[in-house]
Parts: sequence; structure tokens; C-alpha cells
Amino acid sequence: MQIRPFDADDTAAVSHVLDAAFGRSVERQIVIALRAADADTLELVAELDGRVIGEIMFSPASGHTAAGEEVFGLALGPVAVLPEFAKRGIGSALIEAGLGFIRQLGVPFCILLADPDFYQRFGFQPASRNQWIWDGDTEGKFTEAFQIRVFQPDALPDMQVTASFHPAFDLDSV
Ligand SMILES: CC(C)(COP(=O)(O)OP(=O)(O)OC[C@H]1O[C@@H](n2cnc3c(N)ncnc32)[C@H](O)[C@@H]1OP(=O)(O)O)[C@@H](O)C(=O)NCCC(=O)NCCS
Repeated sequence: MQIRPFDADDTAAVSHVLDAAFGRSVERQIVIALRAADADTLELVAELDGRVIGEIMFSPASGHTAAGEEVFGLALGPVAVLPEFAKRGIGSALIEAGLGFIRQLGVPFCILLADPDFYQRFGFQPASRNQWIWDGDTEGKFTEAFQIRVFQPDALPDMQVTASFHPAFDLDSV
């Protein structure tokens, strides 16, 4: 198994991975919208014997404070592995590779919205502990699911930050 950057020739295979992993088309549409918006900052695929069996996307994210300070980082997601290849460490390998790469690039933070049980092993924690809230969580329903991994603590404001994902995640707006 190798992890390598997405290539345009992988488009159909990645769409298949996303549809099969999630059992619906929303995540495929988000990935297509992110690419169309040039917001596919880092897209990696897992390949086994010439076949694409997994994919991960990182896209631009931002945070702002009431004092007008803005910070820019990345969001992780979606990440998907073909169901028949799940639980063999491929998803973890994609996540580790992506995080390692963006950390080297000097990205100050990475956010995501997902089950905390899986992502805390990769250094994520509920973003509320860092005084971060997600602008899409008006009712406070995603306090545990909205997570952050901080790479550069000194680059982040020491006050409440409201975070935004790329608009492509809101399919109504693309
Ligand atoms: C999530 C996903 C990418 C993980 O890929 P994978 O190759 O199966 O992951 P790994 O083999 O590296 O890790 C498996 C571990 O993750 C756990 N895990 C997988 N998905 C999980 C989830 N949604 N919530 C909690 N734990 C999860 C497994 O229980 C297993 O735990 P263990 O190591 O303690 O046994 C894959 O299961 C998938 O494509 N799921 C459907 C799409 C999805 O939910 N994506 C994530 C949200 S963007």
C-alpha cells in the first residue's frame, strides 16, 4: 500500500471510494465542490496493487475573534476507505500522512467535525477546550464532535475563536 497525492486520473476511483464508504453521495459532492473551488489544499489517496482504496482531503479553514483577529489553517475531511479494506490501518495511515505533511508546511491548526473516539488518537481534542466554537453549531450540538489539533499554539489567539469551514461543505451554497 502506498499513499500518494491525488491525480486527476483518480477522480472516478475516489468517487467510488467515497460513495461506498459513506453509503451516500454527499461527501463525493463536497470533494468535487472543493476541487472546483480550488480548495483541495491537500488530497491524498491510498493505493494498493494499482487500485485506489482510500482518500483524504484537507481544505482551507479559518477562525476569527470578536477583536477582529483572523487565523488560517486547514480542515480534515472527508476521509474514507473502501469497506472491504477497513480496519487494516489504512484510514490511520492517510490521517497520519496528511497531518505530518501539513505540520511540516507550518499550518497552525487543523479542525474537523467527527466522532472524538477515533480522532483523539491523532492528537485532536474538542475545540471548546481551546475556546473555539464552530459557526455552524448555533445550538451547541456539536461541542464534542468539533475538534482541533493545534500545531502552533503561539499563532492562535488567546480568546474565543469562531471557526469556519470552506463554503463547499455547505452544498446549498455551491
Ligand atoms: C473512518 C475510516 C476512514 C477509518 O478507516 P480504517 O482504515 O478502517 O481505519 P483504521 O483501520 O486505521 O482504524 C480502525 C480503527 O478506527 C476505528 N474507527 C473507524 N471508524 C470509526 C468511527 N467512525 N468512529 C470511531 N472509531 C472508528 C475502528 O473501530 C478501529 O479502532 P481500533 O484501532 O481501536 O480497533 C473508515 O472506516 C471509513 O471510510 N468509514 C466511513 C466513512 C467515515 O465515516 N469517515 C470518517 C468521517 S469523515
